[in-house]
Amino acid sequence: MKAMAGFEIRLAAADDVEGIVELTGREFRAASIDARIQDMFGGASWIDMKGEVIREELRRNPQGCFVAIHEGSLAGYITTAVNKTASRGVIANIAVSSACRGRGIGSALLEKALAYFKAQGLRQAKIETLETNGTAARLYTSIGFKEVVRQIHFAMPLD
Ligand SMILES: CC(C)(COP(=O)(O)OP(=O)(O)OC[C@H]1O[C@@H](n2cnc3c(N)ncnc32)[C@H](O)[C@@H]1OP(=O)(O)O)[C@@H](O)C(=O)NCCC(=O)NCCS
Repeated sequence: MKAMAGFEIRLAAADDVEGIVELTGREFRAASIDARIQDMFGGASWIDMKGEVIREELRRNPQGCFVAIHEGSLAGYITTAVNKTASRGVIANIAVSSACRGRGIGSALLEKALAYFKAQGLRQAKIETLETNGTAARLYTSIGFKEVVRQIHFAMPLD
């Protein structure tokens, strides 16, 4: 448990899952590739797809998923996965409620995940973001991540 500047970071619990999924639906649209595919071609809801992914991340690696609590409410979360072969911790998803941004919650969640990776004896950490997400990219480089490569996503309808 860690208390910092009006918020607390703790392990995510089963009771947090639906709040995390709900926060994701509110806050993650601009960071979602599936939302762009949905905008271009229609089809399944990006929120449903993301919710499924987040629930699975929380189920698979509960000891590496953390929430930020501000004034008793969920303010943000981070999910992680471990690639043992690569000796690498992967930050799968991170989001902070818009009302709580810019006060260090995102960086505290990242630091918590990095501390978890180190405690697991892992040698590297990895995270991805979209080219359009300048805030995230600045945050990641400010805590030590180095850009590796940029990727282009393509999609097409099959009807
Ligand atoms: C990326 C994200 C998690 C950062 O969370 P955060 O709690 O705002 O992070 P921090 O406060 O630690 O740092 C954010 C940076 O934005 C700056 N900032 C200042 N005011 C801000 C505001 N009102 N809103 C957002 N960012 C602000 C911060 O100062 C900081 O920059 P700095 O390190 O150069 O000072 C958050 O913007 C978010 O949830 N975005 C939507 C989901 C998303 O994009 N997730 C990442 C996908 S890869």
